[in-house]
Amino acid sequence: MPPFSKIPRLSPWTEDEDHPTQWTKDLRPFAYAFLEYRIYQQVGPHPCLVECLGINEENALVLRRMRNGSIQTYLLENPRPDFATRAQWVVDIAHGMGHLHASGVLWNDCSIFNALVSDDGAHALICDFGSAIIWPPVACPRIDVALPPYAVPLSHAFASGNPWAPDLFSLAGVALFLLSWQHPCAAVPGLNGWPNEEEYLERIKAHERGEFDQLDPTRFGEHFVRVVERGFRLKYTDAQEFARECEDALKHWKDAFSRGELPDPDTMIPDIPADTPAATAAIADVVTDPQPF
Ligand SMILES: Nc1ncnc2c1ncn2[C@@H]1O[C@H](COP(=O)(O)OP(=O)(O)OP(=O)(O)O)[C@@H](O)[C@H]1O
Ligand SMILES: [Mg+2]
Repeated sequence: MPPFSKIPRLSPWTEDEDHPTQWTKDLRPFAYAFLEYRIYQQVGPHPCLVECLGINEENALVLRRMRNGSIQTYLLENPRPDFATRAQWVVDIAHGMGHLHASGVLWNDCSIFNALVSDDGAHALICDFGSAIIWPPVACPRIDVALPPYAVPLSHAFASGNPWAPDLFSLAGVALFLLSWQHPCAAVPGLNGWPNEEEYLERIKAHERGEFDQLDPTRFGEHFVRVVERGFRLKYTDAQEFARECEDALKHWKDAFSRGELPDPDTMIPDIPADTPAATAAIADVVTDPQPF
């Protein structure tokens, strides 16, 4: 945890009744809003980034409001989207991140909390560049922003020499979760995540040892297996390459699935009834404390 609590606070999206299509991120002091706005300006608009509308007279960052909220909130409030939709979200997040990298920006905060769902539910758009870094950094880069399991182990990042290491690693984690519905995001009820803190800590230690989760090729096909594997191993030049391979993997999966050569991976996800006391308690925990763990 950082030694001080975060200064920026968000005003609730329902507050601004005059502008129901806008999301105002009320950051104080002004420098925070300006820095984030500066990132939006540097990278320019992209279909996989939420639209930035500017800074208002109260020094808040104004974004187009996405009424479905983040992937995290969407998954809590809606039935699980099918595999192809979740895979498309991963492709979109990777394209959004690729757009940042092409413009020399390390996102540094990729997670299901910072990816929004389009109004039709079919696509994802990335947001929250409050921790982003314009690369190369003029000062020591902060590559420790993300909490585990999104955080790349520092030794792994430095050994790779990959300047996009924090982003590629967290993108692989998001991909693993959205594709297979398993950790590293066990805060969503019904997930096949870690049952207790001990196991969670053990997973973090495994990451430190360079042992990462893999997808099962018989369930997902070799292309998706390779994308997640190469992501965790930081083998991509940047997220643009990740996005291209991920998009390709989705095409291969759709072809193989339509020919009956691959199963629907979701048929192997154990279902937890939505209204069990455990699930309800888990939802309450997540809503009051929106952290991965
Ligand atoms: N444009 C938007 N439309 C709808 N919901 C949004 C929008 N932008 C953000 N949100 C929601 O608000 C939450 C917090 O926003 P954001 O991630 O930008 O702030 P933060 O995490 O507090 O910022 P920072 O990391 O800069 O301190 C997101 O996780 C998402 O649920
Ligand atoms: Mg955020």
